Amino acid sequence: MQRFHSRSGVADDTEAIFEVMVRAFHVEENSDRWHSWHKLAVRDAERFRVLEVEGRVVGVAIIKSERLCVGSCEIVKADVGEVSVLPQYQGKGYGSALMRDVVQWMRDSDCDMSRLGGSAIFYRRFGYVPFPRRSVVFPIEPVRAGANIMPVQEVFRPPEGLPGKVRPYDASRDAVRKDELYQLFHKGRSGSIVRDPDPNAKLPSRPSSPNPLRIVYEADGIVEGYLDAGDDARSIGGVAFNPSCPDAFVGLMTQILHVAAERGANLVSSCLPFDAAVLPILTGANIAFTLIERQGGRASNMIQIVHLASLLSKITPELELRLRSSSAADWRGEIEIGFEGQRVGLRVGNGSVSTNVPLGDGAFRMQTDQRTLMKLLLGILSFEEAPTLDRESIHPSAAAVLSAWFPRRHTASGPWG
Ligand SMILES: CC(C)(COP(=O)(O)OP(=O)(O)OC[C@H]1O[C@@H](n2cnc3c(N)ncnc32)[C@H](O)[C@@H]1OP(=O)(O)O)[C@@H](O)C(=O)NCCC(=O)NCCS
Repeated sequence: MQRFHSRSGVADDTEAIFEVMVRAFHVEENSDRWHSWHKLAVRDAERFRVLEVEGRVVGVAIIKSERLCVGSCEIVKADVGEVSVLPQYQGKGYGSALMRDVVQWMRDSDCDMSRLGGSAIFYRRFGYVPFPRRSVVFPIEPVRAGANIMPVQEVFRPPEGLPGKVRPYDASRDAVRKDELYQLFHKGRSGSIVRDPDPNAKLPSRPSSPNPLRIVYEADGIVEGYLDAGDDARSIGGVAFNPSCPDAFVGLMTQILHVAAERGANLVSSCLPFDAAVLPILTGANIAFTLIERQGGRASNMIQIVHLASLLSKITPELELRLRSSSAADWRGEIEIGFEGQRVGLRVGNGSVSTNVPLGDGAFRMQTDQRTLMKLLLGILSFEEAPTLDRESIHPSAAAVLSAWFPRRHTASGPWG
């Protein structure tokens, strides 16, 4: 292995970054991926970390940061992708050096957690652990009910009997409302991406051409929900609706499943949240679905908490909020939260929480593994359900604090898995 040097990409690296990616992944010239990666390198060269050997870029990885909601607070999640080393340099340790650099860069750059998908064996070495990936899947099949069999065309009819109507999305009319609906639907929903509405956004002056895969539900002249699908209606990319108008969700889902059935799909998959604000509406509308939580495997969705101290300090206001509305509001004491590699001390008193404090001997310790801790933080597991080490040594009053901090919550699916 020769001497190497890692740094952030600059616009001048565009062609070198592109070459490393297409050669590492053997991307065919002029294929869709070839074109989209060229665009990516042109647009986002600065988001790459590059590894140079003798002045030549031989390894690249892109880091895309997003803000992730945890209750009323935000943490920073960085997705790592397109990890590539030129074929003639592979197997010599450069890919590992690049990944170590990427993790260190994220730690130094205010990132709290990271996500990627790929070889579990390779990425485990750099601190990533497999994490569940959730999807809600809709089978498009005939229904057998007693002696009757309803054919697909009968089961997946267009929406009927609803007060509103489904129509194609038109950016010139609907873009602002779409943003509002995103905020309404995801507000406080842990695990969702935080998006700032842009008050100065320019709307297109011409109507969008109608696309049966991009639809809205409108009742009394007000758009109450939107849905974007792709892959010929086989996957639903984004959905949001006004929680006080469940009809919007029923209308949109009924319509998209109808389109999928017409186009011969067997299944429609989505990243809808697994929660009580969504699933009972589907059940109530007699729409069949399956919840899939894919775990592990050689190629997996993986996460890493890159900076626990930073993460916990960002969610302190949410921890205080949860504590103050619990039976443990008056508790005073110290709790350490930690997993294999990182531990953080929290001091609790008068409903306030301070993070990163040195702890005395009387502190309670909640030691768990990285996967469990991330599930607790996202609210997909509660403290009572979590496998923690030495649970018996946590006094019931400290356990009440941890229960207040880590309940099960409405949690988005998708951005973390
Ligand atoms: C994956 C990749 C970035 C690793 O870079 P590298 O310089 O070869 O990596 P290193 O020499 O530091 O480490 C090689 C280790 O990674 C493993 N490895 C290499 N390619 C791998 C792959 N595609 N999947 C899983 N493991 C891989 C090797 O088996 C080796 O393991 P070992 O140390 O036990 O022998 C590089 O091989 C590459 O560009 N591959 C093609 C693109 C790709 O598949 N990227 C995404 C990987 S999920």
